[in-house]
Amino acid sequence: MMKKLIAGNWKMNGSLAANDALVRALLGGLGTAACDVAVAVPAPYLAQVQALATGTPLQLAAQDVSQHESGAYTGEWSAAMLREFGVRYTLVGHSERRQYHGESDAVVAAKAQRALAAGITPIVCVGETLAQREAGDTESVVRRQLAAVIHVNGHCISEVVVAYEPVWAIGTGRTATPEQAQQVHDVLRAQLAAASPHAAKIRLLYGGSMNAGNAAQLLEQPDIDGGLVGGASLKAADFLQIIAAAQ
Ligand code: PGA
Repeated sequence: MMKKLIAGNWKMNGSLAANDALVRALLGGLGTAACDVAVAVPAPYLAQVQALATGTPLQLAAQDVSQHESGAYTGEWSAAMLREFGVRYTLVGHSERRQYHGESDAVVAAKAQRALAAGITPIVCVGETLAQREAGDTESVVRRQLAAVIHVNGHCISEVVVAYEPVWAIGTGRTATPEQAQQVHDVLRAQLAAASPHAAKIRLLYGGSMNAGNAAQLLEQPDIDGGLVGGASLKAADFLQIIAAAQ
């Protein structure tokens, strides 16, 4: 069976003191986790968390990466820079980036390409808004978002992780039902299978108000290979319970 991945997304939260306490609590409870575990930390804290997590099962992730290799792009950081801090994964196309920073499907695809070229696994986020779901457009929206990434990265698409995050479920406490999530994951898997003979090994994460109470049911769906966890990843006990549910 595929090893699941539980990735925490701290978003713009934390401080040197809070991160230290959180990571130490996680490491204390992690043991030899049977799944992969990562935390996507704010860029200024990559070095801090790298120092705490090196030599442990906790893997480091970034929340974003530039679509450019280097140069005059104030406020951005490159995949090569992330690599220097031992970063294994980076989110690309999180709905908050798409919404607040106008990231298009093409930009997201280019970011995934930069990450792959630097040996970093992009966690490509896709998901529909509430209006799109109510209009019956869920499938066409996620297929369009993923198609852009496949178009640019087709030859190495089996190296990516895909996270289905319905926008209406992010930070709202309103989770997709396991059936709703599985339905979309099935669509994504089929789309990947048409692009790659290795689609069965691509991890598809669910994200959107995943918590200690609902994780097990979501994670037992056949095409849910892990979780991308926001709010609940800031509390060690909750995040550890989600990790336990993935084993
Ligand atoms: P949430 O966030 O778990 O707080 O809903 C998930 C995410 O945005 O990745």
